[in-house]
Amino acid sequence: MENRKVTLSYEDGKSIDFPVLPGTLGPDVVDIRTFSKTGMFTFDPGFLATSACESKITFIDGDLGQLYYRGYPIEQLAEHSDFLESCYLLLNGELPNAEEKKNFDYTVLRHNMLHDQILSFFKGFRRDAHPMAVMVGVVGALSAFYHDSLDINDPHHREVSAFRLIAKVPTIAAQAYRYNKGLPFSYPKAGLTYAENFLHMMFSTPVSEYKVNPVLARALDRIFILHADHEQNASTSTVRLAGSSGANPFACIAAGIACLWGPSHGGANEAVLKMLDEIGSVDNVPAFMEGVKNKTHKLMGFGHRVYKNMDPRAKIMKQTCDEVLNELGLHNDPKFKLAMALEKIALEDPYFIERKLYPNVDFYSGIVLSAIGIPVSMFTPIFALARTVGWIAHWTEMIADPGMKIGRPRQLYTGAVRRDYVPVAERK
Ligand code: SDX
Repeated sequence: MENRKVTLSYEDGKSIDFPVLPGTLGPDVVDIRTFSKTGMFTFDPGFLATSACESKITFIDGDLGQLYYRGYPIEQLAEHSDFLESCYLLLNGELPNAEEKKNFDYTVLRHNMLHDQILSFFKGFRRDAHPMAVMVGVVGALSAFYHDSLDINDPHHREVSAFRLIAKVPTIAAQAYRYNKGLPFSYPKAGLTYAENFLHMMFSTPVSEYKVNPVLARALDRIFILHADHEQNASTSTVRLAGSSGANPFACIAAGIACLWGPSHGGANEAVLKMLDEIGSVDNVPAFMEGVKNKTHKLMGFGHRVYKNMDPRAKIMKQTCDEVLNELGLHNDPKFKLAMALEKIALEDPYFIERKLYPNVDFYSGIVLSAIGIPVSMFTPIFALARTVGWIAHWTEMIADPGMKIGRPRQLYTGAVRRDYVPVAERK
């Protein structure tokens, strides 16, 4: 239906119309860009019902538990694609042909080394610094090294920055781990895939050849695909807001990493493992659940602002968990068994059913990463390296839009009304 509208009616009989804009999928939106003519603002802390932008990149149907990257269901990409192909899709809008895929992979995999001076930044941190603190600092510092690709209005500069970030963030993450462990810095290796290289950079040592387990590398590549993008989540919105001021892409991605670190967002995978350690055994689940219901703590890895059904990524992550644990002979892994028991209990409990709380992407990811040998502190850095492509895709989509404006929300002010200064001698 063309030219749909909604009408705001006042008590005095006056009214104002606002156009309704249709999407290709999902809810239509009310265009309130002229709402200030009412003399009022809308009010939506946490953006529960607010679309901040128009986008063609990722679609989520929270009720049906569906996730599409450029229209392709995440289940099909997780099964048939690989991470770099999914990166190409998110950035360019279409799956690459054979030539395009070869060139894209070659370009990313030959830009994954770091300028040698960047390694000095790591040494400014204490050895026990959280790797996310290191990621925020070092990724932000990249803007000091790449002056030649910082004209954000030049599409070629945007493309060069995208390649540099997708290629170098895994190297930075792996060096943060090695610095924390007191290991010498490692370097990417030609001939390895993106996920194989990450495992190589994490676990290789100068004294022996590190042999990548292809099952683990494939599982990690799939985990990267699952975390690559998720429409306007908190960290992506942070990148968009930072980018709307014209800040350079490296600073914007550093801002996204900082936001992702929070336990309500990307830090949840680390929090799930800590929660499983605290619960310890299935016998302690009833007491833990009591604590959830009286709001002492949350069931980490459960719940989502958009999904009011199972997060489709959680289903794939659970299958991946099964594969990895079987490959490693850990199918009796107590943490996995506890997590499955916790999931079963929660999904049958009215408290969770009434609130439509289901496992999200973070519930099983920590168990898989643990089984692969990745320490808990590296879970969120891995989420960040995978999400870098999503952040860049959204940043590029926004910067390329000629109608882009700086993001500047307003507020409902409930503070003091105007009053005059009182000299200190006259104060009570
Ligand atoms: C990610 O946005 C994205 O797309 C994020 C992400 C991505 O890919 O970018 O999907 C990645 O961040 C996944 C979410 C990871 N976070 C966690 O697993 C942390 C635990 N989850 C919660 O903190 C919470 O569910 C949020 C933050 C994810 C969502 O919070 P909302 O949408 O603001 O929901 P809410 O806090 O208003 O909760 C509604 C009700 C409340 O109870 P009542 O006040 O109605 O009694 O549900 C309860 C909440 O207390 N609730 C939970 C709960 N999550 C919500 N109760 C127990 N355990 C939980 N995990």
